[in-house]
Amino acid sequence: MALVNENYTHLKDSYLFSQVAQKVNTFAAAHPEKKIIRLGIGDVTLPLAPAVITAMQKAVAEMGVKETFRGYGPEQGYNFLHEALVKYYASFGVTLQSNEIFISDGAKSDCGNITDLFDNANTILVPDPVYPVYLDTNIMCGRKIVFMDGNPENNFLPMPDDKVKADIIYLCSPNNPTGAAYTKPQLQKWVEYALKNDAVILYDAAYEAFVSDSDIPRSIFVIEGAKKCAIELCSLSKTAGFTGTRCGYTVVPLDLVRKTKGGKSLQLNKMWLRRQTTKFNGTAYIIQRGAEAVFSPEGQKQCHEMLAFYKENARIIAEGLKKKNIKFYGGTHSPYIWMQCPKGMKSWEFFDFLLSKLAIVGTPGAGFGKMGEGYFRLTAFGSRENTIEAMERMEKGL
Ligand code: MLT
Repeated sequence: MALVNENYTHLKDSYLFSQVAQKVNTFAAAHPEKKIIRLGIGDVTLPLAPAVITAMQKAVAEMGVKETFRGYGPEQGYNFLHEALVKYYASFGVTLQSNEIFISDGAKSDCGNITDLFDNANTILVPDPVYPVYLDTNIMCGRKIVFMDGNPENNFLPMPDDKVKADIIYLCSPNNPTGAAYTKPQLQKWVEYALKNDAVILYDAAYEAFVSDSDIPRSIFVIEGAKKCAIELCSLSKTAGFTGTRCGYTVVPLDLVRKTKGGKSLQLNKMWLRRQTTKFNGTAYIIQRGAEAVFSPEGQKQCHEMLAFYKENARIIAEGLKKKNIKFYGGTHSPYIWMQCPKGMKSWEFFDFLLSKLAIVGTPGAGFGKMGEGYFRLTAFGSRENTIEAMERMEKGL
């Protein structure tokens, strides 16, 4: 008799963003006359950069010619993209070797897949509120999870507590959902904690491109010692509008070594290579050529224009909330604005109110954890017109 994974019974019925989408679809079907403005899931709306399109078109043409056609590629990604990333990291002061970088179809998949490297006996430390993928993927493995609270007192940036024992630590900075970003001294404390406890930090840097202050690290590897205790997961989804195109990368330093239960030391880089070559056949050549173009001077210029566009949306949202005297976090080094629900409303109550009364979609803070109750996340990834209209509707209707 086949037994299925009982840990799935410990998950919530549906993934947060599917639950939101379901509610929105039901509302849209019942009110076809309403123009719904979607500021919920962090999905981009601007098209890919012209440099990316040109590179992918060229790659498509190559695939149609016998001499340049490519079949299976290296599971860990093509060297041309590794080299582009080595240069990119160097631009903010991080030296990497190309075999420390693994290309994938996005940070979400890697976030889930990386759990393969760790024993199920590990204790997992996750912030609350949190991107639900960290939590759900570890619930699926049946691991012990402990939470560290993000709250207004710590500006939604929980710091290590020596009384808490953890083996794997998830950090996301700039943070999803709160938009808060760790400073260098704060990250240094996390690295010290991880080194002291032989823990591993899984550092989600998906929003690094939104950082515009040199005091805020764009990679955990700017911190001394981080290569001995951290893995970094990153994505082109937000940096270059690849949410539908799918490409990400994970950095597993060669210096990162931990022991098995039996006491054998293993290099996590070699383990991840073994995992990826066994379970993954690589990201499409055409997509990797598009990704390479993101890091060309022309691609960088075009992507920075996109980021500036979204940051201006964030500013518009922030201004609107200030006018209404609503407290919020984020929106500066991040496309997310984490606002307090007005009039003491709970997160899902405010979600229903916004959708039914103003036809605006956001993400209820409670969906990111108990510390998110009473908060609500808006994204700056909408069109300019919709962002302005949403804030006008809120100004009148809240
Ligand atoms: C979000 O809205 O939190 C993100 O878009 C989800 C993701 O990156 O998977």
